[in-house]
Amino acid sequence: MVINDVVTLLKETLPRAVALEMALADDLWFVSANSTQLSQVLMNLGVNGRDAMPRGGRLCISARNVTVSEALAKSNPGARSGPHVLITVMDTGSGIPPELINRIFDPFFTIKVAGKGTGLGLSTAMGIMKGHGGFLQVQSEAGRGTEFSLYFPAVLTEAEGVVSTGVTDLPRGHGETVLVIDDGPAVRAVVHALLKAHGYNSLMAADGPSGLVLFREHQSIVKAVITDMMMPGIQGAGGYSRIVGHQARLPRGGEEWSGQ
Ligand SMILES: Nc1ncnc2c1ncn2[C@@H]1O[C@H](COP(=O)(O)OP(=O)(O)OP(=O)(O)O)[C@@H](O)[C@H]1O
Ligand SMILES: [Mg+2]
Repeated sequence: MVINDVVTLLKETLPRAVALEMALADDLWFVSANSTQLSQVLMNLGVNGRDAMPRGGRLCISARNVTVSEALAKSNPGARSGPHVLITVMDTGSGIPPELINRIFDPFFTIKVAGKGTGLGLSTAMGIMKGHGGFLQVQSEAGRGTEFSLYFPAVLTEAEGVVSTGVTDLPRGHGETVLVIDDGPAVRAVVHALLKAHGYNSLMAADGPSGLVLFREHQSIVKAVITDMMMPGIQGAGGYSRIVGHQARLPRGGEEWSGQ
């Protein structure tokens, strides 16, 4: 999970005087997020918190499920009401004076000494949250600390009995088969649920070599392959060319994945 990775990274950058706490609720809903961007946002918030606590303090990252009310959605442009995963990053640092709080999201706004901050962290975070259909809020009290709240729309499966993500105009499938190769069980579960909810069948493989086996067995019906660029036993681009190469040489042929 991205939050755990970021916490591991942050631990290395935090001075001893800053205690890092994590509070993740069990059964967090799934969010559809770009993990690189999510870690970028969390790292910036974590580093901002650290910089606001030169004499130490507490940095707490938490995540829980929440339902965003109509009123809250209305007060945040682009936000939707309904189920969200809320990630908060809280510090007990200097806080942000009220006269500056409306400016912190502006590009290039920084009060860090020249060369230390570009002032792009929060404006980038804002852009990334909007790109995910979510939003971001800040609460701060000078001298006491700051809390940033990131709201990500939850992706809920039909099985959970909760209505969809609000994205209603995606083209639906008609039982086409999609091969999914991913080593993350959670990724496979959510992709499977999403594909099913949108009218597709799916075949799941946990690594490159078994993905190739499945592909060979079902190549006449596999219409698309979804995989990661980095997978055990396969490098994405190479694996892709092997599938394409394999298909070009139908009905037989194609190399085996080396398992490297
Ligand atoms: N947790 C915080 N506590 C106190 N002030 C903060 C906090 N987070 C942000 N700020 C203020 O908002 C400003 C802008 O933050 P932002 O992350 O956009 O830029 P930066 O941290 O200065 O530079 P960069 O992130 O590009 O390295 C900071 O310079 C700081 O003054
Ligand atoms: Mg920053």
